[in-house]
Amino acid sequence: MSAPSAFRTDLYAGKVALVTGGGSGIGKGIAAALHDHGATVVVLGRTPERLDAAVAELGPRARARACDVRDAAAVDAAVADVVAWHGRLDVVINAAAGNFLAPAATLSSNGFRTVLDIDAVGTYNVSRAAFLAALRDHGGAIVNISATLHYGGTPLQVHAASAKAAVDAMTRTLAVEWGPAGVRVNAIAPGPIAGTEGVDRLVPAGLRARLERAIPLRRFGRIDEIASLCLLLGSDAASYVTGAVLVADGGAWLPGGPTAAMAD
Ligand code: HXC
Ligand code: NAP
Repeated sequence: MSAPSAFRTDLYAGKVALVTGGGSGIGKGIAAALHDHGATVVVLGRTPERLDAAVAELGPRARARACDVRDAAAVDAAVADVVAWHGRLDVVINAAAGNFLAPAATLSSNGFRTVLDIDAVGTYNVSRAAFLAALRDHGGAIVNISATLHYGGTPLQVHAASAKAAVDAMTRTLAVEWGPAGVRVNAIAPGPIAGTEGVDRLVPAGLRARLERAIPLRRFGRIDEIASLCLLLGSDAASYVTGAVLVADGGAWLPGGPTAAMAD
């Protein structure tokens, strides 16, 4: 169940947002939240049919642009289209990612590289293109969707953990480099979010109850909970926040998190 919005419905009026991975899951939830708060939204992913279905759901100020974030020239062209269509680009959400469970010992080099390419290189390609085409001219905000996989050691996730560590490093570095241009760069690190491809792929159904018991807030998160943090970080409500990685995981990654059951 979604909570009612805590934000003014015109918070993003006049703003143009680009959401990679906006055709499904968390990215689509973020695109919907931005649209519902007044933004014009372009959703980007590889699958045109999926993007078209998302646009039909999102509403009149939504538009689709198919593109693979790994292809820098294609990303430059997609971002140029967004600016040509709407005259500006204010907010960029990097939510596109790839993941699967794989033991490090048998994961191929190409499997490792593929996830690094989508998550880390893709985030870089889109951020740089947006900076050069629009953000450096009038400022703006980038929000990267990271994870907590790399805070400790997450088995079967050497590829994704390495990729998200790079995303966090990029978040801080670009915050410093692009701050003088009025561009804020932040990240959100979700824990497991219910009803997503990520949880379907990574959490065996039989393990869910046990994993939820090890989370201090005792449940997986909701897509709308990540979307509302994104609304915060992308807006003037966070005008002095840059280089931050905001963890939204119900306390799961905290070293004492799994011992919360002792307080019962
Ligand atoms: C081992 C695998 C594999 C698997 C692919 N590969 N799947 N290796 N186990 N399950 C290997 C392939 O064998 C190949 O290496 C290389 O990876 C590239 O595979 P392709 O299928 O050619 O790649 P591509 O078509 O580009 O697809 C990328 C993908 C795919 C990541 C593999 O699954 C995808 O498109 N995913 C997008 C959606 C997604 O993953 N959503 C979940 C995000 S959730 P070889 O050596 O054979 O050539 C998320 C959650 C984080 O990020 C945290 C949650 C708590
Ligand atoms: P999802 O629905 O599979 O979202 C990933 C999206 O990225 C898809 O819409 C996919 O669309 C797009 N994408 C993948 N590869 C792409 C590429 N090369 N170029 C362009 N677009 C591409 O999964 P999700 O679970 O909602 O995850 C969304 C984000 O949240 C990811 O960054 C993930 O790492 C992060 N996250 C999720 C969880 C969780 O619990 N789900 C936890 C922590 C972090 P196409 O396949 O059509 O291209």
